[in-house]
Amino acid sequence: MDSCMKRLRLLRSSQDIRDQSAEVFLNVDQFIVPLFIVEGKGLRNEISSMKDVYHLSVDEAMDQIDTNLKKGIQKHLLFGVIDSELKDDKGSAAYIRNNLISRAINEIKSRFGNDAILLSDVCLCGYTSHGHCGLIRNGMVDNDTTLPLIAAMALEHARAGADFVAPSAMMDGQVEAIRNVLNNNDLQNVRIMSYSAKYASAFYGPFREAVKSAPAFGDRKTYQMDYRTITQGIEEAGADLSEGADWLMVKPAHAYLDMIQRIKSRFSDTKLVAYHVSGEYMLLKTAASMGLVDELTAFSEVTTAIRRAGADYIITYYAGQLADSLKKAAL
Ligand code: PBG
Repeated sequence: MDSCMKRLRLLRSSQDIRDQSAEVFLNVDQFIVPLFIVEGKGLRNEISSMKDVYHLSVDEAMDQIDTNLKKGIQKHLLFGVIDSELKDDKGSAAYIRNNLISRAINEIKSRFGNDAILLSDVCLCGYTSHGHCGLIRNGMVDNDTTLPLIAAMALEHARAGADFVAPSAMMDGQVEAIRNVLNNNDLQNVRIMSYSAKYASAFYGPFREAVKSAPAFGDRKTYQMDYRTITQGIEEAGADLSEGADWLMVKPAHAYLDMIQRIKSRFSDTKLVAYHVSGEYMLLKTAASMGLVDELTAFSEVTTAIRRAGADYIITYYAGQLADSLKKAAL
């Protein structure tokens, strides 16, 4: 009698055969690297909460971008990190003329032109004395009075030459407010990468240490999403698209692979970004430093899983090392 046993191991029997069977691939043009920019010159200081990630002055950031470009990584997501004394309750340093990030964008674009693709984070939390992403009114984060400030911040970055502005405050209507201000200022070509489905997550801990943006009171649960929900994420993505977003995002990534898949299958014509966030990065880094997992293999596996779920682009602090390993594999 013929056996009906399936010989599926045939598809795994050698490296060549496994390579031929692979369906999901990483590529450097999928990577977006976050950079933390500080005032000053010649500064490259490792962030205490994030191994191998640095606070960089603009000149050092340019060196880093140069290195990344040589590896084929073009896309950089910029965050400003300022001293506490410069923070106020309205986050003014975020949107004043010639602010830290505007100057950084300007300098980077003057040197690298379109080789460097710059996305700028648009949110007040790194600039407010209270650490919230919007204005406080009657003890609450107020949606509508925050919108003009977010729009002003996006406008400053766009004027400086950002390719994308990336609103991450989770205020309703933030994409529409930005799209309007860009259109009214002849900056229609600037795109919007919206942090659409952004969850109130424990995994932002190391990042908040890096930008000193932990909320001084309460938490972000009145604006970032509850991780027990499903449909809200899809609604958020749909709202951002209808308000004029060009790229959508799910954040965090590793713990939200299902949301990546759901949003990608619902809005399949739109590029979807996933943010492998600081806490997710440090989980792997820490396990690797304890000898529990192999670092490169673990990051490759997780990053590929994010792709497999449906992300077109991945924001990852590990982009440089992944690019190195892809290059090696291609040799
Ligand atoms: C700002 C912002 C945060 C992150 C990106 N933009 C933190 C937060 O919402 O508190 C987190 C990124 C990371 O953890 O790597 N709104």
